[in-house]
Amino acid sequence: MISPPETFGSYGAWLGAFKRAFYNAYSDARDSVAGQGGPPRAVPGFHVCLAGGRTPAPLYSALAADPDLAALSESLGLHVWVGDERQVDQDSLLRNSRMIELAFGPAGSWPRPPVIHPWPSGEADAACASYLAEIRAALGPGPPGFDLEVLGLGSDGHTAGIFSLDSLGGHGACAPTWAPSEPRSRMSLFPPILASAPYILVPVRGPDKAPILAELSAGLDCPFARVLGSRGRILYLPEPEGRTA
Ligand code: 6PG
Repeated sequence: MISPPETFGSYGAWLGAFKRAFYNAYSDARDSVAGQGGPPRAVPGFHVCLAGGRTPAPLYSALAADPDLAALSESLGLHVWVGDERQVDQDSLLRNSRMIELAFGPAGSWPRPPVIHPWPSGEADAACASYLAEIRAALGPGPPGFDLEVLGLGSDGHTAGIFSLDSLGGHGACAPTWAPSEPRSRMSLFPPILASAPYILVPVRGPDKAPILAELSAGLDCPFARVLGSRGRILYLPEPEGRTA
């Protein structure tokens, strides 16, 4: 059963909750590393894995414009990974990595800019293998896990690039998948790497997501429910995209 969604009455309140949660997780990680705590990492940092799609783009832009995060990054670098990718041209705006790179572009002026780790280009199996190796090299030597994840919720109950329950079984931690709508060829991280973070945020927006939220609250079994369980915070803004005030 999913955790009860938190519903917000304005874009500002929704954004504020998201930014506060992100800042608090980042600050906790910085304090933990400063106190010699935290997982042993080949690449020290605050490693976040982000969702693609349309909903989170303005939230990522707001993070990139946040001076408090810029200040945090001076003591612990921000590393941005992608939870799933579409098999489209590298510079297509449908590419999640491209959307994330554009959203975080203004953070290039931070004293210590975020390091974006885009999904590798090329043939799907090779790109997945290469990305998984990069994740393991950076987050190892222990079992790789992110510090914070942003996951999305599709109207059909998918999350990341996981669209069917049977695709959850037997896959490795990173593999090509198939979506029922364009772009159909996808690539996705899977549990245990996906949804292993101590902080998981699920920004959901628009009246079209109300039905799936109701079905999930009634116990719907779907990839989102299997991957997330009762973990994470679902931040729901009923109003449609477009308004940013
Ligand atoms: C993707 C995403 C996907 C997304 C949901 C919700 O590649 O599309 O990773 O899992 O989060 O489909 O998308 P919207 O935010 O556009 O509704």
